[in-house]
Amino acid sequence: MTDRFLRACRRQPVDRTPLWIMRQAGRYLPEYRELRKRVDFLTLCRTPELAVEASLQPLRRFPLDAAIVFSDILVPLEALGCRMTFSPGPKIAEPIRTRAQVDALHLRPAQEVVPYVAEAVRLLRRELDGRTPVIGFCGAPFTLAAYLVQGEGKEGFAAAKRLLFGEPATLHALLEKLADAMTDYLCMQIAAGAQAVQLFDSWAGILGVPEYEQFALPYVRRIVDGVRGLGAPVIYFVNASPHLLEAAAGSGADVLGVCWRTPLDTVAHRVGPAVALQGNLDPHVLFADAATVQARASAVMARMAGRPGHIMNLGHGILPETPVASVEALVAAVHEYGRGAVAAPAACAK
Ligand code: CP3
Repeated sequence: MTDRFLRACRRQPVDRTPLWIMRQAGRYLPEYRELRKRVDFLTLCRTPELAVEASLQPLRRFPLDAAIVFSDILVPLEALGCRMTFSPGPKIAEPIRTRAQVDALHLRPAQEVVPYVAEAVRLLRRELDGRTPVIGFCGAPFTLAAYLVQGEGKEGFAAAKRLLFGEPATLHALLEKLADAMTDYLCMQIAAGAQAVQLFDSWAGILGVPEYEQFALPYVRRIVDGVRGLGAPVIYFVNASPHLLEAAAGSGADVLGVCWRTPLDTVAHRVGPAVALQGNLDPHVLFADAATVQARASAVMARMAGRPGHIMNLGHGILPETPVASVEALVAAVHEYGRGAVAAPAACAK
């Protein structure tokens, strides 16, 4: 078992910087596109054997340091009675705009509504047999609310922001229910064997700092507090976060996942040493040639050199058009950099 990913989450010394890639299972892989020809996206998520196959696909190609269970941030919202489709982005059947709709959402246990996610985690652990740690995940409440209110992904999420300023109590009521649902959902994944969990706050960046502190951060804290005792490190990824870094670092999560916009040494300086950092290569770098990918990846790692607690990753999810060869170049860069430049006692290598 290589535990360098889990050690880095805890800011312990490692033999080399661990690497995994947000959205590493997905459409940039030809074998994923093949799998999707046979089965639609939600069926894939709901069938543990197929979900595990999707999770394992990137690991068969690249020696990554963590696996992520295959699902989507919107899938567990079925526990609140929300229905959705994917084409490929999510579409919510009945967007939530009123207090009555929020009050009508009744939380049912994740284990009852999405037991297949727990089963996928269990199967994935068994398949990996201790070789690679498994990450569970959920969406952060504000990001989930943005989708539920808007009804679909949309730059700016105007409907969500209108609700925030026009009817803040309704949004708070929704966020409260989402925080409870996601706490239960992450607890289920950890009980099933997830060794770390990540919260994705993909849309928190549309908020100003005071709104972030009112409508996003408290609900993330509530989830982090709810799962902290279970022993799995928590990663909190915030996209478009340059103005939110100090606040986000106070979520209580062990690791702050950083978007590509701010250099990691600047982030480290701003948030201090109490939180590990994950990121933050711009996903578009992977459209350049191999030498550029390697140089840019090394530059990201160099910004963290000497500071414990860095998990190499992209600064947002890998894009569907990404050449597979670029991922190979990224893996090579991380492995080579680790060999030469990251000093760590030999005893830490496992
Ligand atoms: O390796 C993995 O990370 C796979 C598991 C995973 C998926 N979605 C599968 C998926 C994870 C962790 C997610 C998270 C997710 N989903 C986020 C947070 C990360 C981010 O990118 O900001 C968000 C915002 C979503 C919502 C979502 N789901 C979108 C916008 C889309 C469509 C476009 C896209 O980005 O792929 C989806 C559909 C989706 N989720 C696909 C996959 C593999 C593609 C669906 C298909 O196969 O047709």
